[in-house]
Amino acid sequence: MLALLHALGHVALVLGYQTPSESPQTILQTSGLDVTAPFIFNSLSGLLTQWPNTVHGTGHSIAPGILHPFTLLYHARQDSQLPPPSPEWLAWDPEMSYAIMVSRGGQSHLTTYRTTRPAKIIYLDGMSAAWGSGWLDSQHMFIYGMSKNGSKDISMWDDYGRADKLCEWAKSRDVEGFVRMNAGFEIIWCDFESPSLQLVSHLNITPPGTPERPSSWPRFPGRNLIPMELETETLDDPPDRPPRRGPGGGDPPRRGPGRGGGGPWQPPISDLALTGNLEWVRAASHRAFAPQPHLTLFYSDMVTFYHPSLTSLVRDRFGQPMRSHRLVNISSDDAQKVVSEVDSVLVRRAAGELGTNFDWSTAARSIVEYWGDRISHMHTYLLNASDPSVNTTASLLAIRTLAYTPINPFMQPGITPNASGWDLFFSLPTAFLPNGFVPNTNVTALERCTSQATGFLSQMQMTPQERLLRTSVESVLARLCNDVRQISVSSMLTYPPPVPPVWCHLCTEF
Ligand SMILES: *[C@@H]1O[C@H](CO)[C@@H](O)[C@H](O)[C@H]1NC(C)=O
Ligand SMILES: *[C@@H]1O[C@H](CO)[C@@H](O)[C@H](O)[C@H]1NC(C)=O
Ligand SMILES: *[C@@H]1O[C@H](CO)[C@@H](O)[C@H](O)[C@H]1NC(C)=O
Ligand SMILES: *[C@@H]1O[C@H](CO)[C@@H](O)[C@H](O)[C@H]1NC(C)=O
Ligand SMILES: *[C@@H]1O[C@H](CO)[C@@H](O)[C@H](O)[C@H]1NC(C)=O
Ligand SMILES: *[C@@H]1O[C@H](CO)[C@@H](O)[C@H](O)[C@H]1NC(C)=O
Repeated sequence: MLALLHALGHVALVLGYQTPSESPQTILQTSGLDVTAPFIFNSLSGLLTQWPNTVHGTGHSIAPGILHPFTLLYHARQDSQLPPPSPEWLAWDPEMSYAIMVSRGGQSHLTTYRTTRPAKIIYLDGMSAAWGSGWLDSQHMFIYGMSKNGSKDISMWDDYGRADKLCEWAKSRDVEGFVRMNAGFEIIWCDFESPSLQLVSHLNITPPGTPERPSSWPRFPGRNLIPMELETETLDDPPDRPPRRGPGGGDPPRRGPGRGGGGPWQPPISDLALTGNLEWVRAASHRAFAPQPHLTLFYSDMVTFYHPSLTSLVRDRFGQPMRSHRLVNISSDDAQKVVSEVDSVLVRRAAGELGTNFDWSTAARSIVEYWGDRISHMHTYLLNASDPSVNTTASLLAIRTLAYTPINPFMQPGITPNASGWDLFFSLPTAFLPNGFVPNTNVTALERCTSQATGFLSQMQMTPQERLLRTSVESVLARLCNDVRQISVSSMLTYPPPVPPVWCHLCTEF
């Protein structure tokens, strides 16, 4: 049972269910797999979804893409300036704009825009629009890499400084904004006079019953109110400053929905505004696992801070779970490499080189769907195995079926009735074709399980970024296929079932 638990632990780690005693890093090193493959895979499978990015926190992927035409976007502010100064923020969910602004008290104005044409954007994954330890690392290190003399000294609170620097870089590259996530998705929009935006409405949405705003309370957005001293603050400033633009609550300021209702950071607001943050979270929860719509990412152009060539980042990842993979110690060379890679993919796409058009994100999500639930289901059987009330024979039968199910589409026990489990999975090049040509018959079940989805891409023109994604996907699958096969066979050897199943030839010789 211990060996089984161990094997399951390996598999579970690949999908992000971590056991406390073993870090992914140590396990992957002992297994000899590419150490960053599962992290790249995890980033990829979670792109544009709320929950995986909330769990990882620190983003590592930089994916160019386009915002679809005719997408509605919202911008709220306390003054009625139109167009707003640039850069500013656009939300996909009006609930986000509403909650951020009405919780400030005073007047709230909502401007609604519609995109008129595909607009180039860059998506930064993780909790990249929130103030938290590590959450801004990928932006800050990207900014650091933009110039040879770049500085890492960027204040967590300095939203406008960050946006200015990103937009200055974006200008000559025809990139109109940066998509980030907090609770739900938003965009740093670089130019509100861009022809990509069409004004839809401009309304004073101040909720009825809103008290006068105390005159001491700053207006939001507060570009001109950021005191000089903030310029000198460094990474990970403690959260002890008044909020600049995150939605507040009774909590200390952070760029995420607060609990609402009259704390020291919050001015008096209308009763109708009290549920604003809850409604914001309700909107964000629709993206828990369903990707944010209205934009298309170019996976063949996805750049990652997990690229194995970025060696300055390896040390800080060692023995750490994904949520602690910080980027702040990146070398200047490595940071510049990331920026040049993003530049090169933008130039390449502009020149019409688009890669394979394979939908990498859906492929990765399908792998999680296929294996994830079964692994965690097996895990619950193993977790309670030592409970005296558990019928371990029944548990083993259940585990064996759960392990057999995902590997069965790759084997042919039907034409080799007496083959061992080992042979079925590893050695027999499947087989035997009575007539005609069937492709991919001369591969083992392990090879089929590992590369059925992506192996064919080797015949196509992949971008270097796609080659890395393919290695990541196949490394993760090799691990899943191999370990689950091992569980399937060991579950029969440890506790032979009372009634041999019809496919019991799998039980022998292993
Ligand atoms: C970087 O700093 C050096 C020394 O301070 C200076 O000579 C050089 O011009 C700077 N380069 C850029 C691109 O700002
Ligand atoms: C960065 O490097 C310093 C100095 O080696 C180290 O003390 C620190 O823990 C590292 N930071 C992170 C976030 O790993
Ligand atoms: C043990 O876990 C399995 C799988 O979740 C469950 O079906 C079973 O009821 C559990 N048994 C006990 C005694 O908790
Ligand atoms: C345990 O489960 C097995 C398989 O389902 C069953 O045959 C056996 O009767 C069960 N034992 C007890 C004590 O319930
Ligand atoms: C499988 O093994 C059984 C029992 O040893 C034997 O009777 C049968 O002929 C074998 N079948 C094949 C196809 O080798
Ligand atoms: C099947 O693959 C093996 C090993 O790659 C090779 O030696 C063999 O010639 C192949 N057989 C056929 C029929 O292609």
